[in-house]
Amino acid sequence: MSLTIVPYREYFDEFRVTFVNEQVDVFPLFEPEVSGKQHEQLKIYKDLERKFVLFNASSLRSQVHFQNAYSIPVQRWFPYREGYSLRLVNAFIKEFNVKGNIFDPFCGSGTTLLAARLSDLQGIGMDVNPISVLVARVENTHYTMDDIKKIKKAIQRLKLLKNKEVEININFELVAKVFNSDILNSLILFKNYILNINFEKARNFLFVAWLSIIESVSNIKKEGNGIKYKNRKRTRNGYINIKKDIWEKKVYPIDKFNFVKSTLLKQLELMLSDLQNNYGSSNYIPRIFEGNSLKFDDFFTDEINFTFFSPPYCNCFDYFEIHKIDLWLGGFVSNKEEFRILRNNGLRSNTNSLNHKTVLYKNKSLEKLIGMFDVAKLWSKKIPSVIRGYFDDMNILLSKTYIQTKKGGIVGIVVGNSAYSGVIVPSDLLISDIAREIGFKVKGIYITRHLTTSSQQKQNLEFLKRYLRESIILLEK
Ligand SMILES: C[S@@+](CC[C@H](N)C(=O)[O-])C[C@H]1O[C@@H](n2cnc3c(N)ncnc32)[C@H](O)[C@@H]1O
Repeated sequence: MSLTIVPYREYFDEFRVTFVNEQVDVFPLFEPEVSGKQHEQLKIYKDLERKFVLFNASSLRSQVHFQNAYSIPVQRWFPYREGYSLRLVNAFIKEFNVKGNIFDPFCGSGTTLLAARLSDLQGIGMDVNPISVLVARVENTHYTMDDIKKIKKAIQRLKLLKNKEVEININFELVAKVFNSDILNSLILFKNYILNINFEKARNFLFVAWLSIIESVSNIKKEGNGIKYKNRKRTRNGYINIKKDIWEKKVYPIDKFNFVKSTLLKQLELMLSDLQNNYGSSNYIPRIFEGNSLKFDDFFTDEINFTFFSPPYCNCFDYFEIHKIDLWLGGFVSNKEEFRILRNNGLRSNTNSLNHKTVLYKNKSLEKLIGMFDVAKLWSKKIPSVIRGYFDDMNILLSKTYIQTKKGGIVGIVVGNSAYSGVIVPSDLLISDIAREIGFKVKGIYITRHLTTSSQQKQNLEFLKRYLRESIILLEK
C-alpha cells in the first residue's frame, strides 16, 4: 500500500487487533516423549502456563519487529532496529479505548509515544540511551510552518558547504577501521556545521538525519548481537577479510565528500517530505526523560492509564554495543568511563550491564531452570547473574508501574524468550508470574511468533521449541 496516498492516521486505524483469538492448548494431545532433565524442564513450563491463558496471536507476527517501519513516515527517520510497529500500539490504544497518560519506560525511537500522539493523548517516555531520547524527541516534536522554513534554510546552507580538512578529535580506537578517512572527515565536517545551528529544532532534526546515515557510509553494519565489518565476506570455505583499502575502492565513489553529502541530503529530503505532508502532526508533545526507567518515579508522579513497552530481552543483546559507533561519533560519549557508566545504567539483560546490585526478587521456577544450566556450555559465567538481575529489575519496574497505574489501567509488554545451554528462559511466563504476584490481573499471553536459535542449540531444543517465542503480555490493574 502506498503510504503517500493514504492519510496517515487512517492508515494506522485500519489495522485492528482482535482479542477473540484462538486459545493455545497448553496440554496438546501429541506431546513428544521426554525424560530426565528435559522432562523436568517441560514440567516447569507447564506449571507456569497453567496459571495463565495463552492465545495464538500469529496475525501479529509482523508487528513485533521493526522491518516494516523502515518505510513508515516519521518512524523511518532513524533505523531503530529494535523497535516495533506503530500500528500495533495504535491498535491496542483503540481496542482499550485508552484515555489519559500513556507510558513507555523503554521508549527507544519513540514508537509508543508517536502512537499516543496520533490518538491525541499525552505520552511519557524514558530511555537510558541518549540517542534514543534524541530520536524519540525529534520524531515527536510539533513543527510549525515557521519551524519547517528554518529547517529548510539550514538544509540550503548545508548544501553550500565545501570540502576541507577538519580536526578529528575522537578518542575511539576503532574509528580508523570503521571509516574511510575521507568519509570520516566529511562526516565530522557536516556534524560541526549541524551542531552549530542556533535554532534547536533544526539542529536536532539535521542531527538525527546525520546519525541515521552513519551506518550506510561506514565499513560496518549492525547485525545480530553486534556490529560486523562489511569487508568480511562469507565464502564456501569460511570467512575472508578483503583488505580495507581494496574494499573501500570498490564500494565508495571517488568523491567521498559528495557521497556523504548526497546521502545526508537524501535522508533530509525524506524527513522533510514527511513533515510537509503533516505526517505525525499533533499538538501533544510527549515528555521524554533520559535515564534509568527503574527510577521513573523520581522523574514523574502522574497517574498512568496505559503502559506499552518492549524491554531489552533476557538474551544478552547489548544496546550500547550495537549503537557504540553512533554514540562515539555523535559525541554522546567521549571516553571509556562514560561508556561504562551508560552501560551500567541499562537493564540487567547482558553481561556488560551488571552493576553489583543485590538481587531481592526470588522465583522458584527460575532458580530451578538456572540450576539446570550446563555451566561448562555457557559462554560466560555471568549468565546466571544476568538472568537473576533481569527478573529482579522487572520486578522493580512492574511494582512501580502498578503503584502509578490507574485502577483498570492496562499494561502491554512485548517480550521474547531466550535459551542458554539447552534451557529456555520463558520470560513471557516469568514476567507474567511477577506481575500476578504484584497484583496485576494477567489477561492473557499472546504468542505472536516462534523464534529460532543457534544451530548448536537447535537439536537440544527441538522438543521445547514451542516455548522459544515472542509474546505480548496483557495486564490489567
Ligand atoms: C526493545 S528497545 C525499545 C524499542 C521501542 N519500543 C521502539 O519501538 O523504538 C529497548 C530499549 O530499552 C532501552 N533501555 C535499556 N535499559 C534501560 C533502562 N534501564 N532504562 C530505560 N531504558 C532502557 C534501550 O536503550 C532500548 O532503546
